[in-house]
Amino acid sequence: MKHLKDLDFKYKRVLVRADFNVPIENGDIKDDFRIRLALPTLEYILNQSRSKIVVISHLGRPDGKIAPEFSLKPVSEMLSTLLKKEVKFIADIKSSEGDTAIRNLSDGEIALAENIRFYPEEEANDEKFSIDICHHFGAYVNDAFSASHRAHATIAQIPRWKPSCAGFLMQKEIEELSKALKPAKRPSMAIIGGAKLETKLPVIENLAKIYDVVLLGGRISVEAKEKNMKFPQNVVLPEDFADDNFDIGPKTIQKYILAISAASFVVWNGPMGKFEDETYREGTDRVYEAIVSSDAWKIAGGGESAEYINSKKGAGKFDFISSGGGAMLEFLSGKVLPGIKALEDSQ
Ligand code: 3PG
Repeated sequence: MKHLKDLDFKYKRVLVRADFNVPIENGDIKDDFRIRLALPTLEYILNQSRSKIVVISHLGRPDGKIAPEFSLKPVSEMLSTLLKKEVKFIADIKSSEGDTAIRNLSDGEIALAENIRFYPEEEANDEKFSIDICHHFGAYVNDAFSASHRAHATIAQIPRWKPSCAGFLMQKEIEELSKALKPAKRPSMAIIGGAKLETKLPVIENLAKIYDVVLLGGRISVEAKEKNMKFPQNVVLPEDFADDNFDIGPKTIQKYILAISAASFVVWNGPMGKFEDETYREGTDRVYEAIVSSDAWKIAGGGESAEYINSKKGAGKFDFISSGGGAMLEFLSGKVLPGIKALEDSQ
């Protein structure tokens, strides 16, 4: 796979796929974590003489239709503030106005295109659409690790047509999550919580093969117990729950804290309970405190865990926090993500 340093961006129009799928309420961006993570790649390309950038991203799941509540316009404004330069906004990248806007970009300029999922061809992984989108560009950069588990046109197809590479964020995610697949210290421990048992089963199974211990919490552990599911011996389910099963119970908390304090390598994905409600936050709080106060190598990820850690201003206490939710889980399940495969196969 090529990295930014392997491609020459001078004099080029560069297409960057980012993941600006951020929470927005009434036009206000509630968490700019993912926008900030894209800055090093954008700044690096803009510093190459006479380059220009168009960034594409999705936001939410508008289902191939134009939906104003999923507009990326607020993101272009935030990006402009963070980059301290104007970010043009391309309302329709497939229209003749979009074409003109791209061709008229001056050296050193940057534009953000409207939500790429407003076009049904994106999620349909349409080949012709991907060619239409990238035909103006001399290079393509995928910095959207967190969307790279999706076989969508601007992720899985464009590297077939253009010189392509991973951005800094993509590169870092692959490096750090690859370490999580080969724990360098023992005892190693994975802690998996949150909801959606179906999507978490492959990761639990894979990590159970790699890690000494896998602790389960959150909704998935309630469901697994209700269904009387069988796991390998090193997978630990809670002994008790508190508050109508919305949190792990006091005995489990004590047991997990003790286990975490003995671990030398910890991967954490998913809260231990319904943490967004203060009443059910005890388990997640105590597990978080145990992780951050240990000397273990620590990595965390998943939308809810990242949100929780950011709310605690705890990002600096981890060795790495993945920007990926589903993408992190699929990577840790041992799958090759379509976006990563496309970059690997690209000439
Ligand atoms: C995410 O937030 O995990 C990514 O942006 C992917 O979004 P999706 O689940 O809607 O494809």
